[in-house]
Amino acid sequence: MLDHDVIDLGIGEPDPAALPLGQLRQAAAHRLSNADTAPLRYGPEEGSASFRAMLAEFLTRCCRVPVHADHLMITAGASHALDLVLSRLCRPGDAVFVEDPTYMFALDIFRDRPVRLVSVRVDEHGLDVDDLERMLAVEAPRLVYTIPVFHNPTGVTLSVQRRRRLMELAVEHDFLVVADEVYQLTGERDATPPPLRTVNGERVLSLGSFSKILGPGIRLGWIEAAPHHVARLRDAGVLHSGGGASPLMAAILESLIDLGFQDRFLGDLWEIYRARRLHLVDVLRGVLPAEVRFTTPQGGYYIWLELPSRIDIMTLSTQAAAYGVGFRPGPLFSRRDEFTSHLRVSFSFYNEERLSLAGERLGALLRSRL
Ligand SMILES: Cc1ncc(COP(=O)(O)O)c(C=O)c1O
Repeated sequence: MLDHDVIDLGIGEPDPAALPLGQLRQAAAHRLSNADTAPLRYGPEEGSASFRAMLAEFLTRCCRVPVHADHLMITAGASHALDLVLSRLCRPGDAVFVEDPTYMFALDIFRDRPVRLVSVRVDEHGLDVDDLERMLAVEAPRLVYTIPVFHNPTGVTLSVQRRRRLMELAVEHDFLVVADEVYQLTGERDATPPPLRTVNGERVLSLGSFSKILGPGIRLGWIEAAPHHVARLRDAGVLHSGGGASPLMAAILESLIDLGFQDRFLGDLWEIYRARRLHLVDVLRGVLPAEVRFTTPQGGYYIWLELPSRIDIMTLSTQAAAYGVGFRPGPLFSRRDEFTSHLRVSFSFYNEERLSLAGERLGALLRSRL
C-alpha cells in the first residue's frame, strides 16, 4: 500500500526545517539594539555602503576572487535583478538570447518586458556556443541570459573553454551577458569555476541571491557589474521612488554576516545539500529503468532526467500523484514547449528518508510505463 501524501520533488526551495530562524533572531536583535534609525528610512538606490562593503568581503571569501563594493547593487533577489536589467538596459524590440531549457520563471520575467527571445541550446557542457554562433549570424542580441553554474533545470556547468568563447563572442558581437549565478556557492569546489565576470568584468552582469544560501523569504540579492552598469541600473524610477531594496533586511544581514553566521550557515547548508544530492543520485541509480538517463550534478538543487521519447511527460505528470510523487515536466522550462520526455527533480527540500521514498515511487511509476 502506498502512503498517499505526495512528495513533490518539483519543489526547488531550501528545506523549511533548515532555515536559519535562530541566527536571524540574533542578528535582528544585534542590529536593532543600536540607536541608528537609518535602516528604517529610504535607503540609497544601490543599497547602503556598509552593507555592500560587508557583502563584498563575504563574496571575496566565498568566491575566492576579489569583489568590490562599488561593483555591487543590492536587489530584492535575483528575480528583481533580472527584471531591473531588462527594464534599464533593453529597448523595446531588443533581442535577448536565452538558453533552452532555462529557469522557468525567468521566462515569465521576460514575457513581462517588450523584448524578443531567441533560444540557444544547452548540452552537458552548458550553453552551446556553436549554436549561439549560428544564432548570432542572424540576430544581434542586446543580452544573453545564461545560468552558467549548476544550471536550472539541467544541473550542468558551463565549461571553462566555453566561458572564454562566450565572452569572445560578446566582444565581437557587442552584447552583454547576464550570468544568473544563484547556485555559485552550492556545489563542489573543484567543480565550481570562478564567476563568469572573471573572464570579462566589463560585459558580465552577475546575479546573486540570499534565496539559495539563507532563505527565499529574505528577498535580497545583488547584481555584480562594472560601476558604469551599476550607475545605469540604480537610475531606475522604481528605485528613485522607493529607495534601495529593503534597507532594514539588509542591515540585519549586515549583522548576520558580521557575526559570522552566514559563513557558518553556508557551510552547514553545503553539507546538507551535498549529502542529499549524492543520496538521491544513488537512489535513482538503483530504482530507475536502464532507459532513463540523468545528469549527475556537482552542486545546485536539481537532477534532469531524460526518458525514452515515446513517453509523454505531461501525461506522466498527471499520473504521478497516484504514486505519491511529483516533479516538474520538461516543457515548463522551454519557450518552445520542448523537452517533452524530460523532467526535473530537486533534492533540496526533503531529507534523505523522504528522498528515498520519493525515488522509489518515481521508479515504480516509470517501471509501470516503460
Ligand atoms: C536560476 C534561478 N534564478 C533565479 C531564481 C530566483 O531567485 P530569487 O529568489 O533570488 O528571486 C531561481 C530560483 O529558483 C533560480 O533557480
